[in-house]
Amino acid sequence: PWAVFDELRAKAPVHWDEEEAPNHGFWSLTRYHDIVGVLRDTETFSSERGTVNLEELDADQIEARKSMLETDGVRHRALRKLMQGEFTPRAVAGYETFLRGLTATTLDTAFAKGEFDFVADVAADFPIRVLARMLDVPDTDIHKLIDWGNRMVGNTDPEHADVLSTSAESEKYRLLPFRSPAAQEVFDYGNELARQRRGKSGTDLVSRLVNETPSDGIPLSQRDFNSYFLLLVVAGNETTRHTITHSMNYLMQNPDQMALLQERPELIPWAVEEFLRLASPVYHFRRTATRDTEINGQAIKEGDKVVTWFAAGNRDPEVFDDPYRMDVTRNPNEHMSFGRGGPHMCLGNALARLEIRIMYEDLLGRVDSMEQIGELSRLRSNFVNGIKRFPVRVELAK
Ligand code: HEM
Repeated sequence: PWAVFDELRAKAPVHWDEEEAPNHGFWSLTRYHDIVGVLRDTETFSSERGTVNLEELDADQIEARKSMLETDGVRHRALRKLMQGEFTPRAVAGYETFLRGLTATTLDTAFAKGEFDFVADVAADFPIRVLARMLDVPDTDIHKLIDWGNRMVGNTDPEHADVLSTSAESEKYRLLPFRSPAAQEVFDYGNELARQRRGKSGTDLVSRLVNETPSDGIPLSQRDFNSYFLLLVVAGNETTRHTITHSMNYLMQNPDQMALLQERPELIPWAVEEFLRLASPVYHFRRTATRDTEINGQAIKEGDKVVTWFAAGNRDPEVFDDPYRMDVTRNPNEHMSFGRGGPHMCLGNALARLEIRIMYEDLLGRVDSMEQIGELSRLRSNFVNGIKRFPVRVELAK
């Protein structure tokens, strides 16, 4: 998509994409500063009419999506506050020892094979295992969580979709699929956990959700719980997995950068920011204009959808010098892979950063070189920049 983003940014930074139903068209923003402006102004650009889909949502779909991601204002703050304390840098630092152990075991197993699929053997299970711990679900259920994520986030990819290209049904499920079979399985699973933990004094995320009232005093309805639980299960897994995989691919294409990090591992926290910028694991989110307004001189009508292409903002040459160059020492590096500014900025950003850092601290300490030995296969999606398979061979350092 990069060439298209570059062209739009240069020639039509606020560009109307005319589409037929179910999209009905939307504005595409590709300049960093225009995107930041929209993310910050939640009164004019609301999340309440959908954020992850380009399609129009009907009233029932809107009602079913009232997690923090798709609410604004007081309700958003109240829902976010419920979990905020679990995701601060200080709170997630408590997972460091667990993460180091998990990384070591994952890499031991993969590297013992010599040749392996970097996605399946290194990146795929790692983020979900952390989440499973936060939700306090047994290891034996992890494969289910992975499968649900694959089916929902990959729902535009024929390999993963619940329903393949059978027109009407598939159109329905393409709306990040709250009514798909995978979503229903997630809801059933979450509801069973909630039933077991209601009224008990657990500290895991599910116990907190069922036993605490949001600060606005409005308890979570059944649908609110469902969409909150779904968000927790889906939000952090594919995104972190794909960042880890893209990063390895970029390092293999930039051996000087890999050598630099191996020589100076103290640079890895900076490198993580560059990994995130280049990977841009979430291509876009969207908002809906609540009134007639303008962006960068372009009139926008009430009700228009506005799509913030984070991936395009991350390569805006006005903000990032030589944006296609990998520079693990880039500073400042205020990428928008987690959003940028605005109240919806990724809640899990400190956790994701920690996971990626720990993975690369361990991996780069062991590897002499890594080589691609088969085709890198991409996820078909306009939402998540995903890699499905990445066959590699590793040479370990002596
Ligand atoms: C929101 C990206 C990991 C939980 C977001 C947003 C983006 C994003 C772009 C929306 C920002 C906005 O609209 O301003 C990513 C990326 C990740 C990642 C690229 C990994 C590399 C995680 C993790 C979790 C998580 C590990 C936690 C389990 C959330 C939640 C929201 C969110 C709950 C909604 C926040 C709100 O609406 O207030 N993320 N995310 N994310 N993310 Fe992440």
